Amino acid sequence: MTRTPVNVTVTGAAGQIGYALLFRIASGHLLGADVPVNLRLLEITPALKAAEGTAMELDDCAFPLLNSIEISDDPNVAFDGANVALLVGARPRTKGMERGDLLEANGGIFKPQGKAINDNAADDIKVLVVGNPANTNALIAQAAAPDVPAERFTAMTRLDHNRALSQLAKKTGASVSDIKRLTIWGNHSATQYPDIFHAEIAGKNAAEVVSDQAWLADDFIPTVAKRGAAIIEARGASSAASAANAAIDHVHTWVNGTADGDWTSMGIPSDGSYGVPEGLISSFPVTTKDGKYEIVQGLEINEFSRARIDASVQELTEEREAVRGLGLI
Ligand code: NAD
Ligand code: LMR
Repeated sequence: MTRTPVNVTVTGAAGQIGYALLFRIASGHLLGADVPVNLRLLEITPALKAAEGTAMELDDCAFPLLNSIEISDDPNVAFDGANVALLVGARPRTKGMERGDLLEANGGIFKPQGKAINDNAADDIKVLVVGNPANTNALIAQAAAPDVPAERFTAMTRLDHNRALSQLAKKTGASVSDIKRLTIWGNHSATQYPDIFHAEIAGKNAAEVVSDQAWLADDFIPTVAKRGAAIIEARGASSAASAANAAIDHVHTWVNGTADGDWTSMGIPSDGSYGVPEGLISSFPVTTKDGKYEIVQGLEINEFSRARIDASVQELTEEREAVRGLGLI
């Protein structure tokens, strides 16, 4: 190996997404086929043994790019020197739990992890929060890491983006690779807004190709926005392989760049663009280059889109108020 290994920390490593994610990181899909990695797995103490089992399997794959694996239940150890952190482990909502309880329970995870990132990670750390509620968990971690540039904390809406690509391809008979410039706006929740008004299918405006407003409002948008719940209903567990795949896509695009003429969707701290209050971690259309992202500017937002973006942003604002009230940010 000629390149210096990149330190990649994965939390919730023994969970479902962790199991679908780690093998792809180790085989070079996260950062590139020539980039060796040191994997750092963070788990809670009772799940350490399961994480060890996964590490044994990783060993057994003899991945040429996997330089080392370390397992810990101490965030200060797991984030030591981290260049990339995938925050997957989270507290799921259980029966009878109110939204405030969920936010508080996740505050107990993401606040100390944010602090551990602040105190131990490498200067070029990039953070992706997958664990739900992803946007607000990212906000909590970011607030606990004042020495890390705020824009390094991102939340995953790439799964929503990929779901939207797939639904649009099915409807129009196009290939997913013919579809460009799709956007997910807002929260990774049922209020998210998948926007096709600026998307192109083989160079033609997607909204014109579809020309079926009823399909857009009554089928496409709810199918994409409620897909997570539909998967839970069907599998009896939340999406895992597709979520891991989206996490790989998110980081790969962030590090390696978007294709010319295309963009992607990432949950990122708002700079006030498109009327989204500054600081909220909301999904935007972004281009990436040289490890940095930029919000695509100048898109015309029609009334249909405006109402939906505003509704999702309103939900994010309420989540921010709730965690502020709990003293988490
Ligand atoms: P899972 O329950 O199978 O695994 C979660 C793992 O996290 C468990 O092994 C648990 O021990 C671990 N964990 C809990 N607290 C931890 C802590 N403080 N530090 C380290 N590890 C900890 O869940 P999963 O299916 O892997 O899903 C993980 C999260 O991802 C959930 O919150 C889920 O809702 C979310 N998710 C997000 C998206 C998205 O698009 N953003 C998609 C799918 C799932
Ligand atoms: C998904 O979009 O599949 C998940 O975020 C659903 C969930 O609640 O875990």
